[in-house]
Amino acid sequence: MSEPVAKKMTLPEFAGISASGGRIAMVTAYDSSSARLADEAGIDVILVGDSAAMTMLGHESTVPVTMDEMLMMTRAVARSTRHALVIADMPFGTYQASDDEAVTNAIRFVKDGGADAVKVEGAGRTRRRIRAILGAGIPVMGHVGLTPQSVTKLGGYRARGRTASEALAIYDAARSLERAGCFSVVLEAIPPQVAERISAALTIPTIGIGAGAGCDGQVLVWHDLLGLTTGHVPKFVKAYAALSETIATALRSYAGDVRAGSFPEAVHTYGMPADELGRFEATLRELERRNEAG
Ligand code: KIV
Repeated sequence: MSEPVAKKMTLPEFAGISASGGRIAMVTAYDSSSARLADEAGIDVILVGDSAAMTMLGHESTVPVTMDEMLMMTRAVARSTRHALVIADMPFGTYQASDDEAVTNAIRFVKDGGADAVKVEGAGRTRRRIRAILGAGIPVMGHVGLTPQSVTKLGGYRARGRTASEALAIYDAARSLERAGCFSVVLEAIPPQVAERISAALTIPTIGIGAGAGCDGQVLVWHDLLGLTTGHVPKFVKAYAALSETIATALRSYAGDVRAGSFPEAVHTYGMPADELGRFEATLRELERRNEAG
């Protein structure tokens, strides 16, 4: 019997998870094997986040990652995802300048990258871009609170919405993204009470990261979730594994075995029929004899 084909999640199914009292599990991934693992584990949404700039490419912020780099990762993720919704994060500079540019780049993510939807940061002027992208038939996820593409302007990586006026501004921004047509909004690094009020006010699902348990779903960065992040880990992260240690131990063992000559063993090698080996050895001996004879 052939394996059942996993059915791709649709946007109504995505919205239905929270409408029926469930919570949405979302994680970032940037390559094929990670996407396959996330999909097979039953993750609902895979975000090809622009956090890739830091986790995959070693940059200090999300800003430098390019359209081509994000497209390459999106393709790899989409190829290996059978069920989860795949969302491509539009990198800084690919949707700010004009509606036309935003639409062109969003189309590239769907047509060339295989994404089901795109994510953009901010409200304000971004809402025009969102409407334009929606006009091309591409679903958009919003992102408010701490928006990493604007950390320089906002004064660094710090929680947002901790004053009444900032909380109200984020509340208004989230509502305006729903009105603009977003199918969901990420709430990043805001107090749980603010996230709860926003989640109650919106009819679309909210996805929290550092925003408490009152959101309709949660997202974590792959490397944070699996204990692969080196250096500073945000307070809101829960590491569900310590893969850095596991990987470092494996690599040290491998290097030790190679240096000691204990890897590879016979089981790691390919066999050769005895008669073929005999002919090979005999031919070599004959060649060596001829060489010596000049
Ligand atoms: O790029 C990213 O990983 C994100 C998540 C933190 C939501 O935008």
